[in-house]
This record gives sequence, structure tokens and C-alpha cells, in this order.
Amino acid sequence: MEANSKLVFRKTRTGEWVAFGPLAEMTWPNVNGPLRRESVDIVKKDGTIVEHKLTGLGRPFDVDGVECCYGYLGPEAETDSQTIRVASFFAGIGGFDLGFERAGMESVWQCELKPFCADILEQHWPNVPRATDIRKVNADDIPEAEIWAGGFPCQDVSLARMGPRSGLRGKQSGLFYDFAELIGERRPPVVILENVAALLSSHSGRDFAIVLRALAERGYGVAWRVLDSRYFGIPQSRSRVFIVGSLGGPARAGSVLFESECGDRDSEKGETNGPKPVSPFAVSVGNPQQGFVKKLAHCLYAESARHTGTDWSRNYVSYPEGRVRRLTPLETERLQGFPDNWTMPKEEIENVNTLDSARYHACGNAVSVPVAEWLGKRVVDKLGPWLLERQGAQGRNETAKSS
Ligand SMILES: C[S@@+](CC[C@H](N)C(=O)[O-])C[C@H]1O[C@@H](n2cnc3c(N)ncnc32)[C@H](O)[C@@H]1O
Repeated sequence: MEANSKLVFRKTRTGEWVAFGPLAEMTWPNVNGPLRRESVDIVKKDGTIVEHKLTGLGRPFDVDGVECCYGYLGPEAETDSQTIRVASFFAGIGGFDLGFERAGMESVWQCELKPFCADILEQHWPNVPRATDIRKVNADDIPEAEIWAGGFPCQDVSLARMGPRSGLRGKQSGLFYDFAELIGERRPPVVILENVAALLSSHSGRDFAIVLRALAERGYGVAWRVLDSRYFGIPQSRSRVFIVGSLGGPARAGSVLFESECGDRDSEKGETNGPKPVSPFAVSVGNPQQGFVKKLAHCLYAESARHTGTDWSRNYVSYPEGRVRRLTPLETERLQGFPDNWTMPKEEIENVNTLDSARYHACGNAVSVPVAEWLGKRVVDKLGPWLLERQGAQGRNETAKSS
């Protein structure tokens, strides 16, 4: 297909533009996947695939009630076939995957237990192989990847949970051990873990020490840092600890997480004198006649559509007559930096409460996409040459072995 050709896209129920049927010679990187990559794969008659840039989308028009538009094909994309590959554990709805993809990396494998989340992953990454339960994964079945990333379940260490915390001895958070075992068997060059900041204090720090020791014993140099989503362009206070482990010593891991130069994130101006700063939680935005919402949301947690009177009640929209409502699933997606309707399942779920609960829960569990993107860019920037060199050497070894 020539550059400057027009392709046709239709808008899906979830508001994304996808390739339209009649163009048989065209497929997407993610077949029928959303338009995110700003490029399309064109399958030529001889079966070879050429990536083209997409230079823009035209004005929408209507075909039998379906909103369509043209997409304009640009020149062949410069093919740099080497991409840093990611294996995504505890993938949820793909916060890491999307952020890392925006940073130029590529998910090559995912693992997620919950059917609702797996369905969302399938929609956005239909061509990525996926395992269900980490406890049943055989290390040899995981494709080669430079980065292994995962936010292991945090229920047993989270402070949002009432009562004593069972920490890494808990059934959910204990899945870390399964992850660590697989890491030991395959030793990917870089591992990235995420969890609630309370992991640092769980069992007076002993659980965090277990995580660090597990990585160190497997040969990783480790660095960690607490990052708050509010400084990455989204209005949510969400502190999470990110742990980076790298083969070859801690300097590499540290270079990903810590800027030696001026920070490249938003920061708040310190005020040493002058008026006392007003907490952003106390500032509202919106028209008070119609309803308003706090400028900065408290941290979202995985929860159901029926509130328990604890967490969500801090995140609400107030109306002048005193009525309040909780955030909509769309608003929670935006508070995590996902595209609108990212968590809308393919199959309709008729019960609105069931649907909303699944969407809140998934968003509350997710990694904020802009934070993952920042981290991904740091990996590409600081470790990219080393990782791609390793990938190239590995490819050369495999070719030599098979010839
Ligand atoms: C803290 S969330 C991670 C969310 C993810 N980072 C995201 O951005 O959506 C932990 C995830 O681990 C999944 N999980 C729990 N047990 C699992 C298991 N045995 N195998 C694989 N995934 C599991 C949960 O369903 C949940 O989606």
C-alpha cells in the first residue's frame, strides 16, 4: 500500500478507532486493537509486513449509523527492529504495559488471574500470549524479555485494610515468592516491582527486607523509590514504592530511579515564608452551582460499587443541595491516566453495579500510567543501550547454535 493512501476506521462502543473490515490487505499490530501506536502494519501480498506511520485522522462520517473516519497513511516507518521487551506479571488492566509501551517498549507476555482484567488485556493486546495463574507458570514458557515487571497483590500489606496485616505471609502478597522463584530461574536483566508504600513498614520493615534479600540473593543490585502519582500530571495522591533490580550492580538500578540532574517531574514550590499553603484536598474545582470535586483526589483503592463507608467516601463529587456521588468509573480511569473507557469489557455486563464494581476495583489496583511511562522512559534512556546489546548478543548466540 502506498504512502498517502487513506484507510477507513470505525468508532467502537468504547470510543476507540479501529481498522474497518473491507481493507483485507491491512492488519493492525493488535488486530482490531485501538488506535494508540500512531502506526499500522500493512501485510503485503507476499506476506511481509511493513510498518507505516499514520499521519492523521480525518473528520468523522456516518456509515449505517456507525461513526467512521479516514486515517492517512504516512511513509514507511523507520524500522528499528530492536525493542526492549517486557514480561508483565500481575498485569491487571495493563498500567505497566501501557506506560512502558508509551515509552517505546513492547509487552511480549502477560500473566493475570482475574477474568475481568484478562478480558481488558485481551482487548488491548490481543496478540500477546497470556498466562493465568503465576503459581502454575513454568519459567521456560516465558518468552525472552529484558524487563520483568509486576505489582504483586498488596492486600496483605496495605494500610487500607483494617486489622492486622499478614504481610508477605498472606495468601495474596505471598505470591511474591512465586515471582521471585521464576526470577531466579530465568534471571532477566532488569526486574521492576511495585507495591503500596506500606510495604516499607510491614512487619516493622521485615517484609521489605525479604523482598530486597530475595532479589540480592538472585544476583540483583537493587534500588527503590516512593513515587506519588500527583507529581506525574494526574490529580491523585497515590504513593507507591517502585523497586528496580538490575544484574550487574545497584548503580544501574539507581540510575533508573534517581535523577542526578534537576527533576523532570512536576513538583510543588516550597513556601518558607508567606501564607500557609492550603491542602490541595481542600480545594475544589467546578461550578459550585452545579456540583464540585476536590482538586486532588485521595488515593483510589480496589473496591466495589457499593461503598463501605471507609475509602471511597473521601473521593466524591458534591452537589449544592447536599447530595454527593462517588466518582464514575470513567473518572477513576482518568485519575489513573488511562484512556477513556479503557476498562469497558467487550461482552456487555447488564448489571450496572457489577460492571462498575469490576471497573473501580481494576482501576484502584492499577499502576498509574504516567508513572509507568516515566519509569519506562528512564529505563530506555539509562539502560537501553545495555539491554539492546544483550538482546543482540543473545540473538547472535541462538543463530550460531542453530546453524
Ligand atoms: C496490584 S494488582 C496489579 C495491577 C496492575 N499493575 C495494573 O496496572 O492493573 C495485582 C494483580 O495480580 C492479580 N493476581 C492475583 N493473584 C494472581 C495469580 N495467582 N496469578 C496471576 N495474577 C494474580 C490480581 O488479579 C491483580 O490484577
